[in-house]
Amino acid sequence: MIFLNLKLYPQTFAYKALDFATMAKSVSQQTGVKIYPVVSALDAVKIHEKLGMEVYLQHVDPFLEGAHSGFISPLHAQSLGIKGSLLNHSEHRLQPGTIKSLLKHWPSDFDSVLCLQTLGQLNTWAKNLNPTFFAYEPKEYIGNSQISVATGKPQQVQRFAHILGDKKLLIGAGIHQPSDVTTGLKLGAQGILVASSVVKATDPQKELMALATAFSV
Ligand code: G3P
Repeated sequence: MIFLNLKLYPQTFAYKALDFATMAKSVSQQTGVKIYPVVSALDAVKIHEKLGMEVYLQHVDPFLEGAHSGFISPLHAQSLGIKGSLLNHSEHRLQPGTIKSLLKHWPSDFDSVLCLQTLGQLNTWAKNLNPTFFAYEPKEYIGNSQISVATGKPQQVQRFAHILGDKKLLIGAGIHQPSDVTTGLKLGAQGILVASSVVKATDPQKELMALATAFSV
């Protein structure tokens, strides 16, 4: 599976996030690989309703309901048909205590992708948590077009997979070529998160297709 994070790249502004999601849907249909757009709350409902896709948010806040202004509630998102959200992305970190409490009150039928930057985070406070997916994203390779988590941190990916056992592992950061996918899968990941190599590509569809095709190699 592929989580396509559109971040705040201007290439996705206005209605272009919808175009990216349409392209992702077509690649998913052609390859049989699940592709989830990971988008801003401003785009999520529109994409879900227009394309019938399962969509993830990039972040939710630790407030479910009530007198809180300007936050994104996981419960509110779930009520609108959004599939899930990233949590603790390197670009939007939360305190471990906040994460634990948020996961404890997490809505059922709403997926959580808990992002971690290091094995240390997994070992010190995260390994007993039960998000839907763990995502290992070493910050130093995010946006890198030469080195990825798969080529730069293979032992750590393997270690993550070993410690997590049956819990599902995703990897992200710098993924830009099919061999990043095949290597990651061999090391024990079940899917990838990708952003810049697709969103900033001259031909995003070609790029995403190449990554998706690698799942069946
Ligand atoms: O959430 C995915 C992301 O952080 C990876 O970014 O640009 O390295 O593919 P990128």
